[in-house]
Amino acid sequence: MTSPTGQATAQAQPNIALVKYWGKRDAALNLPAAGSLSITLDALHTRTRVRFDDALDADDVVLNGQRDDAQTRKIGAFLDLFRARAGITTRARVESDNDFPTGAGLASSASGFAALAIAIDRALALGLDARELSMLARRGSGSAARSIFGGFVEMAAGTREDGEDAFAKPLLEPAAWPLNVVVAITSRKKKAIDSRAGMQTSQRTSPYYRDWIATVPGDLAKAREAVQARDFGKLAYVSEASCLAMHAVMLTTRPALIYWNGATLDCIQCVRALQADGIGVFFTIDAGPQVKAVCLPHHASRVADALRDVAGVEDVLVSGLGDGARVIEDVRACA
Ligand code: PMV
Repeated sequence: MTSPTGQATAQAQPNIALVKYWGKRDAALNLPAAGSLSITLDALHTRTRVRFDDALDADDVVLNGQRDDAQTRKIGAFLDLFRARAGITTRARVESDNDFPTGAGLASSASGFAALAIAIDRALALGLDARELSMLARRGSGSAARSIFGGFVEMAAGTREDGEDAFAKPLLEPAAWPLNVVVAITSRKKKAIDSRAGMQTSQRTSPYYRDWIATVPGDLAKAREAVQARDFGKLAYVSEASCLAMHAVMLTTRPALIYWNGATLDCIQCVRALQADGIGVFFTIDAGPQVKAVCLPHHASRVADALRDVAGVEDVLVSGLGDGARVIEDVRACA
């Protein structure tokens, strides 16, 4: 039997966690120690093209126009998960581009692995369902499991050792509660310690790690209720608390993980001042210095103007909530 060869292009958007994920129950299968809840954005995009080719001796991976050995190995191992399912050894060429800064706390690994999973599935005509694609995306990056879906999404930690119950599910369509996210970019530098390495060190060394994991189920229940009731105040309260609890664990990691810069803190104060003025907005921050201000759509321009005026803010992006990862083009040819 000859190998199927094919190609496909997929698009995915980053997601921003409101109840954060920081810590694993299994590193090999990339199983989260606790669940998480996120919103998928619509204004930032990853486009990934995958082409399986019998003529290739090795995988060829080009990310934002550049080849990098470490990334090629990581993506090669991810491709292997799908090759094993398809029963093939054919190598692939992968080209992926982001229209936003990569590796700077804007969830590029989430959109990157979600787009890659969808493109590989289509290129190999595997026909996997969304649950399986979410589990496979998780193997590349925990947060990628969530970008398979749009709108409000919940990721389950699961309890099974094989990880077959650790996948994301959509909670609410983007149009059902069309919040906006104003992203204040305070640095375009790539972070020194990526999430995967950072959370492993936190797990080993932060005296607060266990307490942090213990808070997540309660926060998830509150956030889920807030989403179902479209209760902005309740979602704001639990989201800021989850973000700051995660950063408390990062700060108490040894050596400390300080992802913020001075402008990050100034943006937090700016959001608090807006709240005091009665504006519907709250902040969340990931493993990087950017501040994401989630707000009601009619307050988005006021929030964007205020954050643009904070010293050290280089740029401000305004996004709505978007759809999940999807194929945007495919060409299949069976050799
Ligand atoms: O799955 P990773 O390795 O991209 O880690 C995500 C970690 C945070 O962005 C800080 C939190 C989250 O839940 O997205």
